[in-house]
Order: sequence, then structure tokens, then C-alpha cells
Amino acid sequence: MKKTKQIEKNAKIVNRHLNLKLKGNPKKLYDAAGHLIVHGGKRLRPYMVFQSCKILGGRSSKAMPAASAVEMIHNFTLVHDDIMDNDEVRHGVPTVHKKFGMPLAILAGDVLFSKAYQVITQSKLSSDAITELVSRLAKACVDVCEGQLLDIKMADEKRIPTQAEYINMISKKTAALFDVSCAMGAICATRKNKDIRNLSTFGKNLGIAFQITDDLIGVMGDPKITKKPVGNDLREGKKSLPILMAIKSSKGKDKKTILNAFGNSKITRKDLNKAVEVIRSIGIEEKVRRQALSYASKAEKSLETYSGPNKRELIVLLDFVVKRSV
Ligand code: IPE
Ligand code: IPE
Ligand code: MG
Ligand code: MG
Repeated sequence: MKKTKQIEKNAKIVNRHLNLKLKGNPKKLYDAAGHLIVHGGKRLRPYMVFQSCKILGGRSSKAMPAASAVEMIHNFTLVHDDIMDNDEVRHGVPTVHKKFGMPLAILAGDVLFSKAYQVITQSKLSSDAITELVSRLAKACVDVCEGQLLDIKMADEKRIPTQAEYINMISKKTAALFDVSCAMGAICATRKNKDIRNLSTFGKNLGIAFQITDDLIGVMGDPKITKKPVGNDLREGKKSLPILMAIKSSKGKDKKTILNAFGNSKITRKDLNKAVEVIRSIGIEEKVRRQALSYASKAEKSLETYSGPNKRELIVLLDFVVKRSV
């Protein structure tokens, strides 16, 4: 499943705005801040900001600062996430801390975080609306931090979490930003609470479906497409849904192979690949995709009172999110 032309068109517009805002001295700091942005990324969150604004009759130009801001926040979380996850490659290039070193990576994240709020205050909206954007985005950032710690805690603990605990964790670390992207887009168009709530619910459920699918790709995605090595989540002992399901539903030799790779930083590439093969063979992909689809249909339901081409675009995005392989 490929990204739509519409997503790509929007990405180009956002890129121009981001490039403009992420310039300054010392140049190295801005190079580090823009590193992941320059080398890839789908710009899904800004797209959701625009589409949520448009579905409610707003003009997307009004949503540009919010769209850029959310992408900056997203990249801030990626830079810090790669430090926390010990990941060396993203978008097919070395991660920011690998390329620029730890101090610059921490600062690059901080610059992205701060610039996001600066950009939002430049929105051509009422000061009430701007306050609402700032407040919601700040709340989403707090949620992401809480979710990220839950993720780390789950990885550190021996105990295998329940599916509900996993959903709570990803609701915070990932869905919060999708949720706020849609809510911010809505706020750029309207002050009607019901509409803001509908879009926010759409974003949240889409975000959950997104992370479930991402976790699936994280275990058995094709590294040529994802540009990330396969099996990292397994090696890091991440308690993601496909891994939880694989541990629960495997038996005997299969279970042993999976558990041998799980959280084992010294595992060889060959044994890691073997564990991934076992997970593939016991039908985890279908089970996990079914879960993602159930959140996607919840998302779709929250748009049932809307119609028209902008709604269709959001449904296409939903479809992309659950079917994607990258
Ligand atoms: C990656 O998000 C981080 C997660 C929340 C799983 P994206 O897949 O949207 O990141 P981009 O497209 O590389 O920016
Ligand atoms: C990404 O989580 C969530 C955030 C960056 C907040 P992951 O650690 O699961 O995502 P990837 O696999 O590194 O993109
Ligand atoms: Mg990570
Ligand atoms: Mg992580």
C-alpha cells in the first residue's frame, strides 16, 4: 500500500515551512534538528491536521503553523526515542545521536520541542484558539513522556503485560500525538466542541491502529522497505502486541526460540532471524492486523456525521495506516 498523492503533496508544502523555521546558528544544531526530516518521514501528522481542518470547512493555510508544530514535536520524540531505544538507523541513515553525538541529539530534540510552540503562536487565529492549541499540544507531550516511560518499564519488567496495558501504553506514547493533530486541525476551523471531540477520537483510534501496525512491522517488516533492521524490538525485549501474542500462543521448541531472542542483547543475527521466522509461521500477523482493523473501524465511526472528499481522504489515510508495510 503506497502513500497517496495527497499525502505526498501535503508533505512537500510542510517541508518548505519546516525548512524555513529550522534554520539558525550554530548551524550544526539545526542540521541535527533537521536530520531526520531531511532524510525522510511520511508527514502523516501534519496531513491529519490539514484534513481535520478541511473536513470542518476550514482553510488549510490557517492550519500550517499547527501542522508544522506537530511534525516538530514528532521529530523531537523520534530523536529522543532513538537514544532511549539504542537505535542506530532511521530513515536509512544514522540516527541523530549516532551521527552528531549525544549532547547535540539532546539539544536537537529540545530545539524541535521549543520551536513547535514558537511556531504555533504565529497562527493567524484568535488568541483563545492559540491558547487552546498550546494547551492541548502540551498535554499531548506529557502523555507521550508518560507513555514512553511505560514502554521502558514494560521492557524492563519480567512480567508479560496484558493487552489492555499495552493499549494504554501506546495510547499515550503514540496515539496522543495523532489525537492532538486532529484536534488542532479542528480548532483551526471551528470552536464547536462536538466537532473537536469527533476529530480527536478519530485521531486517537487511528493512532492506536497505527502503532499496532508499526509494532508488527517492527517485528517482521522487510528491512529493505522499512530501512530499519528486522527484529530490534524483539532483541530489546519490547512488549509490543505481536511479541506478547507470540509468547502467549507459541509452544515447545517455538516458544524456546522466541524467548531465547526476547530481550537478549547478545543474540546473533542468525538466531534473531530464526525467532522472527517462528513468529511469522504461527500466524501472528493475521491476529495483529485484525486488532489494528478493529481500532480503524472505531476511528471511522467517529466521522459518520461528515461527508465529502475531505472525509474520503481521511478514510483513505486510515486504510493506508492499517495496510502499510513501511
Ligand atoms: C514513527 O512514526 C514513530 C511511531 C510513533 C511509531 P512515523 O512512522 O509516523 O514516522 P516518520 O514517518 O518516519 O516520520
Ligand atoms: C515510537 O515508539 C513512539 C515515539 C517516538 C514517541 P517506538 O520506539 O515503538 O517507534 P520506532 O520503532 O522507534 O519508530
Ligand atoms: Mg524506537
Ligand atoms: Mg521507543
